[in-house]
Amino acid sequence: MLLTNKVAIITGSARGIGKGIACVLAREGAQVVISDMDRPTGEATAAELDKAGYPARFIACNIAHRQQVIDLFEQTEAQLGPVDILVNNAGINRDAMLHKLTESDWDVVIDVNLKGTFFCMQQAAVRMRERGRGRIVNIASASWLGNVGQSNYAASKAGVVGLTKTACRELARKGITVNAICPGFIDTDMTRAVPEKVWDLMIGKIPAGYAGGLPMSGNVSRFWPRTARATSMVKSSMSAAAWCCKEEK
Ligand SMILES: NC(=O)c1ccc[n+]([C@@H]2O[C@H](COP(=O)([O-])OP(=O)(O)OC[C@H]3O[C@@H](n4cnc5c(N)ncnc54)[C@H](O)[C@@H]3O)[C@@H](O)[C@H]2O)c1
Repeated sequence: MLLTNKVAIITGSARGIGKGIACVLAREGAQVVISDMDRPTGEATAAELDKAGYPARFIACNIAHRQQVIDLFEQTEAQLGPVDILVNNAGINRDAMLHKLTESDWDVVIDVNLKGTFFCMQQAAVRMRERGRGRIVNIASASWLGNVGQSNYAASKAGVVGLTKTACRELARKGITVNAICPGFIDTDMTRAVPEKVWDLMIGKIPAGYAGGLPMSGNVSRFWPRTARATSMVKSSMSAAAWCCKEEK
């Protein structure tokens, strides 16, 4: 196992991609913190992992609130010890065409996806710098390159890519790697919420003809580099096939 006894926080891991990542990291031996603003679902996910024999606990946190992020790191450290891995996965969308996008839908997406990721990365950086090691993985999106009806979301994810590349340069010499993954279209509650017409359109663009699934094993865990070499990698995938692991199909 690659991650025996490593302490990993995965934000937004009550369900969806975050839950898939938490399962992969837990299977690799990490002690995972399921963190989410949705307490009931988060607690159920942690209990599910625990029941399957993987140590997991739930700590509530809305990443858009700085103090809650500080509390998340403090509670994790008090319960499990220093954080080795941070996966910034929590994110939302509020899709609308640019000419119809409201200020509140702009603000909330930027606050969660970009500012929330910044809050989490900052807490991780402060702590990981002191210890001279750590791994940060940010879940951006293929939409960072632009996508119709997603100007707020695309801007937030492009911001995450810039944040990733900058943090990588700042933290490389401190033994900390920072990477971003830019998934294509994945079948989760987020994408199930889009109108059927949009779903069909998105699937139509994917060469494999189906949305990516969970748990995406291997695709995430391989971003845990076994060496101390710092990398800045933005992995982009428009193809669902690249995101599906063989056993899911
Ligand atoms: N599904 C896709 O096709 C897709 C593609 C590219 C990128 N992504 C990104 O992957 C991540 C996960 O997406 P998903 O499809 O699993 O979404 P999802 O909506 O199924 O799950 C998101 C989780 O994040 C939590 N969350 C939302 N806001 C939060 C906040 N402020 N603080 C803490 N937790 C919060 C939710 O409660 C939920 O459990 C997001 O960052 C999303 O932008 C998704």
